Amino acid sequence: MADARKFPHHLIREIFEQPEALRRTIDARVSLADGLVRLDDIHISREELRAVRRINIVASGTSRHAGMTGQFMMQELAAVPVDVDYASEFENRDPMIGRGELSIFITQSGETADTNAAQHEARQKGSRTIAITNVEGSTIAREADGFIYTHAGPEISIASTKAFTAQMACLFLFALYLGEIKEKVSTALAQHYIAELLALPRKTETILAAADRVERLAELYYRVDDFMFLGRAIHYPVAMDGALKLKEVSYIHAEGYPTGEAKHGPNALIDFRLPLVVIATRDSKDAGSVMRYEKNVGNMEGFKKQGATVIALATEGDAIVPKLADHTIFIPEAPELLSPILEIVPLQLFAYYAAAKRGLDVDRPRNLVKAVTLE
Ligand code: AGP
Repeated sequence: MADARKFPHHLIREIFEQPEALRRTIDARVSLADGLVRLDDIHISREELRAVRRINIVASGTSRHAGMTGQFMMQELAAVPVDVDYASEFENRDPMIGRGELSIFITQSGETADTNAAQHEARQKGSRTIAITNVEGSTIAREADGFIYTHAGPEISIASTKAFTAQMACLFLFALYLGEIKEKVSTALAQHYIAELLALPRKTETILAAADRVERLAELYYRVDDFMFLGRAIHYPVAMDGALKLKEVSYIHAEGYPTGEAKHGPNALIDFRLPLVVIATRDSKDAGSVMRYEKNVGNMEGFKKQGATVIALATEGDAIVPKLADHTIFIPEAPELLSPILEIVPLQLFAYYAAAKRGLDVDRPRNLVKAVTLE
């Protein structure tokens, strides 16, 4: 798909490369027939992994947002408590890591100084470590006990897009792998999830095929100075990353908030001047997801009463959310744990088109570098 079009910037090419990147990251590591995940470079024994009592995920920027989705995946599939830290804050809070804990470091470049320093700290405290990185042989991978490569291919644009979706896919693979080792996931459930993982690239293509609709939305809003992105549970890190992408490439101020937190302060800001992007998708087969969806619908009714302009992300076939929103972007239905991989794609497109319409250097935003090698 990426080759078939001519792209004016690396960023939009990399956004369009996501279906292929996901195939490379997922396909060779799963077997639908036996419901097994293979991760050959973990280098930590199954016995040791079975005994893991707690997991720390540490990363910066977009990679940390991936880690936040990984927290939901691992807690649900492997029933192990997970903490997520900013790499730059890891030492500052004196992490009380002990033996029997596992620390996972996520970094596209593998050279982020804060993340590498955090790995040193964790190793010194006796934790086993796993690196999830896009760069083979990078510092983080060389120094970790084990690693999982995101096979996203080189990412040139400073904004991370295809590496992010590949990181979330790797975190899901690891959650499933650990869940199998800890005997928390049945073969039938693993097969269900593997089939859903294998379906992601195709669903991502469907979203990309409607990119022109997101471009028209960006045309309407690229002159606005402030945005708020809202998401609940595993969708909150997607809201955070949608906001980060927008501010990073288009210099539009954007905040990401948990939807339920709006009434604890941000609501005071919400009126017709502040467009909201509300993630309100649902997995109709999952009671928890449906309950969260109903809460989102209630929140959106409140936002409309306040006069807000709402851009909603809704699941294909949903007739309720589009009635409450000014604009709706439809996402193919997926298990809730996998839906962030789909939801972020239109938000990446929105940030790209807004920046391009503002005439900015979308691949090299001011004051930023691809790998932050200084703490
Ligand atoms: C993402 O769009 C950013 N450019 C930035 O937040 C980035 O994710 C962060 O600096 C971490 O980089 P890494 O994944 O290479 O460690």
